[in-house]
Amino acid sequence: MSFILISSWKETGSIKETKEWVKNVAQEKAQLKKAKIIVCPPFTALSALTESVAANNLPINIGTQDVSRFEEGKHTGEVSAAMVAEFAKYVMLGHSERRTELGETDEIVAQKVKLAKKYNLTPIVCVSKVEQAEALKNLFGEFDDLIAYEPVFAIGTGNPDTPQNANEVAGNIKEILSKAQVLYGGSVDGQNANGFIEQKNLSGVLVGNRSLNAAFFLEILRHA
Ligand code: PGA
Repeated sequence: MSFILISSWKETGSIKETKEWVKNVAQEKAQLKKAKIIVCPPFTALSALTESVAANNLPINIGTQDVSRFEEGKHTGEVSAAMVAEFAKYVMLGHSERRTELGETDEIVAQKVKLAKKYNLTPIVCVSKVEQAEALKNLFGEFDDLIAYEPVFAIGTGNPDTPQNANEVAGNIKEILSKAQVLYGGSVDGQNANGFIEQKNLSGVLVGNRSLNAAFFLEILRHA
């Protein structure tokens, strides 16, 4: 496996779109071997994604974009780590959109990391600055899973960080969390993905917009 490619669908992905995405991606099955692929749809598409991936025998790992900070019980609207674990092996936590729009703090992210690990989900913790990696270390302790460095200015803007700067920040994160694998996210596309993948401190990329469409997603792999 040369690099990790995470696809986050954000608040998109009906069942019909999910099946269509898998059908299109399956047409270039050989490309999928180039990376360890983790696809994170909304909860409502998990079942359809799991079934379609299995039916097409694709080397795609399933993830989600969040998990409840509560283990179980009276928490209307929440989806627990145990429930997520019925479908997924990975979970994105602390994305900057959730930190900003929903007030997720470093403490909440650490609670979620703890529950994710309890239920054998591999956390992918998103951080937009090195301080958030420091907070994770202080609140959670040693962390040997995945960190996605995603500067806010780069998310969904078409204005990515430079591979050199991303590499430098990833190096700073690794000084704090020495066992973590660090990925870069923020306006990654088929043209620029390689520049990030090649960096010494980066283990892969996390892609939003450019992965929702199967053709764009495949373009990232084709250029890799
Ligand atoms: P983007 O999103 O690729 O659309 O910039 C990245 C992300 O949300 O992590």
